[in-house]
This record gives sequence, C-alpha cells and structure tokens, in this order.
Amino acid sequence: MGTPVGYLTEKDGNQIHHVVPMPGGEYTQSNRGSKVFLDYHNDSMYDDSLIFNSHNPDYLLLLCLRPDRDGQAKTLYADARDLCQVLDKDTLNTLRQPCFRMAAPSNYTLLVRGEKIWSHPVPVLSGPQRLPEIYLAANGVVGIDGKAEKALLALQDACEVVGERNAVYLHAGQAMLINNRKAKEA
Ligand SMILES: [Fe+2]
Repeated sequence: MGTPVGYLTEKDGNQIHHVVPMPGGEYTQSNRGSKVFLDYHNDSMYDDSLIFNSHNPDYLLLLCLRPDRDGQAKTLYADARDLCQVLDKDTLNTLRQPCFRMAAPSNYTLLVRGEKIWSHPVPVLSGPQRLPEIYLAANGVVGIDGKAEKALLALQDACEVVGERNAVYLHAGQAMLINNRKAKEA
C-alpha cells in the first residue's frame, strides 16, 4: 500500500493515530470530536504552499479496537465514481474548477492557536473522468462564488445518498481500508 507516513502537526508525527473522543473537542470537525456529525471529507494536512492535499496519504486504515457502547457509530463511505453518477454535468464541471478553499485541519489550527487557515482555490474533483479523484477538507470548505457554493450543496446531498448505502459498523478487530483520494469518509 506504499510507505507509512505521519505528520508532525497530527498526533506528534505518530504513524498510528489513536482516534478517541477528547474532552474539549466534542463539537469539532476533527478526530477529537464525538457529538457532531463528522462531515464527508478526505484526510488532509497543513502545508506552507497552502495546498493541503499535495502530501496527504493515499490510503487510511481504520482499525477498530473498541466500538461505541451501543453499536450505533458508523463510518460512511462515498466513492467519487458513485457521486459523479448522481450529479449533473453542470455541477461536475464546477467541481472540477479551482473554485474552492479548504480549511487546514483543525488539529493544526489548534496547534497554532489561530483562526481557520484557508487554502488557495483548488478543485474538488480532478483526474480522469472514469476514475476521478475527490478532495474535501474536514474542517470546512467554501466556494469562491455562488455557483461553487451551489455545487457544494449538491455534492453534500449526493454524499448523503451514496454514503448511507455504504455504512460500515466496525466491530472490535475489524479494519476498514479507505482510499483517501478516490472516496470520502464521514
Ligand atoms: Fe478522516
């Protein structure tokens, strides 16, 4: 699957992240959160170039050590190909334009004790039509104009439809491999 990587701005550079709810982070869009729906996203990282998906991992492996008590926690998975099938041509066109600003991960923002840091305008969709890549930041995405905002809303609706079809309830000892470029998790 490639070379395991860690990021100094995420869990001190550890390659294995213990993802557990953290006090104070309950309502954040991050791996510290627990009381809000984690929006559909790809995992990205802060970079001085202000492009946050240039060195992010190709794959993520979620290994469940301990599930939630009531077995209600689910990981939703939306493949970019499935999303493209339910979106109209106009929306797909807009999503391929560099019209979206992505927020740097909230763990990074926390580290520098600052306001949200926004990327340069980038596209949400890229790559070949038949095997598109998709990128949405977890910590916030904004369209640079009304058309881009409308496309984002359409994408969110599509994620809800596609993601629910692929809901995974992980049990202890089970692992889920996520393609971090071709699909989004929530
Ligand atoms: Fe994630």
